[in-house]
Amino acid sequence: MTDSQGNVEGAKTPMELYKRLNEQGDKVRCLKTAKADKADLEAAVQLLLKLKTDYKQMTGQDYKAGCPPPENMVVSNNEPATDGADDEDTVDPWNVSTTNAKGVDYDKLIVRFGSSKIEKELVDRIEKVSGQKPHRFLRRGIFFSHRDMHQVLDAYEKGKSFYLYTGRGPSSEAMHVGHLIPFIFTKWLQDVFDIPLVIQLTDDEKYLWKDLTLEECRRFAVENARDIVACGFDINKTFIFSDLDYMGSSSEFYRNVVKVQKHVTFNQVKGIFGFTDSDCIGKISFPAIQAAPSFSNSFPQIFGGRKDVQCLIPCAIDQDPYFRMTRDVAPRIGHLKPALLHSTFFPALQGAQTKMSASDMNSSIFLTDTPKQIKNKINKHAFSGGKDTVEEHRKYGGNPDVDVSFMYLTFFLEDDEQLEKIRQDYTSGALLTGELKKILIETLQPMIAQHQERRRQVTDEIVRQFMTPRPLNFSL
Ligand code: TYM
Repeated sequence: MTDSQGNVEGAKTPMELYKRLNEQGDKVRCLKTAKADKADLEAAVQLLLKLKTDYKQMTGQDYKAGCPPPENMVVSNNEPATDGADDEDTVDPWNVSTTNAKGVDYDKLIVRFGSSKIEKELVDRIEKVSGQKPHRFLRRGIFFSHRDMHQVLDAYEKGKSFYLYTGRGPSSEAMHVGHLIPFIFTKWLQDVFDIPLVIQLTDDEKYLWKDLTLEECRRFAVENARDIVACGFDINKTFIFSDLDYMGSSSEFYRNVVKVQKHVTFNQVKGIFGFTDSDCIGKISFPAIQAAPSFSNSFPQIFGGRKDVQCLIPCAIDQDPYFRMTRDVAPRIGHLKPALLHSTFFPALQGAQTKMSASDMNSSIFLTDTPKQIKNKINKHAFSGGKDTVEEHRKYGGNPDVDVSFMYLTFFLEDDEQLEKIRQDYTSGALLTGELKKILIETLQPMIAQHQERRRQVTDEIVRQFMTPRPLNFSL
């Protein structure tokens, strides 16, 4: 039951250990009631004591039945809570990497982060409540994890609406295709539920983390806002804001930031984000700024000072550490916990071991790329699951599970039957790698060209309107 360091095997987070303790407590009680063999009882009690010691060591607190640890409980060795549970996968707001060619093990991540899997039952429920066919990202498990989505739907069914919150860290002028994933899905949610949306542009975050001036970050925020608007959001229901602008103009927003700052310790953010003593204090206090839009009274112009409007955050799972912290602090400062929908990562061209990232030009397809650049990048860099020669490929078939072109098609090809046929043909060897890449190129080129055309139509005045604090048009 214990590993070489004497830690309880399998229990790698405070919550897992807490659950093991509950089970072991039940076992001891059963053995006592059943007047079991003395040696068996003794062994069970010894293990219970060992678990209690481990719990205290891990959390710094005594185990108490009925008092689970907070979701973002800091582990005492000051390792980031997102690390260490699985030696293979690293997932945090700054790094995503795995040694597995199929990508991150998302089922393990759900256990590690303590979120819930989006089961078919939840997808069916979203379909029932919204009255719309589920988005392909839901049908295909691309949005795979959630927190409290059932509660959001329970309330919605009783006539209590909610709002959406998502964001972007404007680190460069051009966004890549991976950045579109949460925005495409957020637009779908806004349309099917007919709800307001706030989009945070964390130009302050990028100034703190990158070698950029404040002016550059502010300019990138506006350029990125143009791409976000081009995704088709409803101007009457969407507020996009730059932190550098909005923080200074909204006392309600800043009050929520300060409340969060007062209720989270340095030790906690060290545990969650891996900050060290040499990180600047701006980084250490930044998570409170990403937390504040989760509370509806940060936007009095939209919600009229109401604190009780539920927030739902669609994002990739790398952003979850911010919202574990937010959910832990929310009830302590009189707010509702935000609910979340998490997506998997759109992989880098070189393979699913890392996510597509703006910092590597060759790993990414940018929304500014020309049809020729898209074609060249895919042909040259997209990792193939095909065999070395045509003969071998025809004989043994390709592996779509590690093939980046096939993975990209799962994100963007709408037709389920066509996708399944491609999967079967590639697996059998009937479809060659070059042919698969051609299908992807012909899917992405028009998609990106259309995005560029919509972006061209987004004038400075339209961006200004989206970014002006104002009432939005909706009923709660
Ligand atoms: P940023 O700019 O790193 O990413 C913006 C959004 O895109 C998601 N994302 C991806 N999704 C799929 N595949 C990828 N390869 C990929 N890369 C990035 C991110 O998860 C995010 O949803 N700190 C944030 C900005 C932010 C935010 C928020 C994001 C502020 N408030 C609320 C989501 C929700 C950031 O730098 O995101």
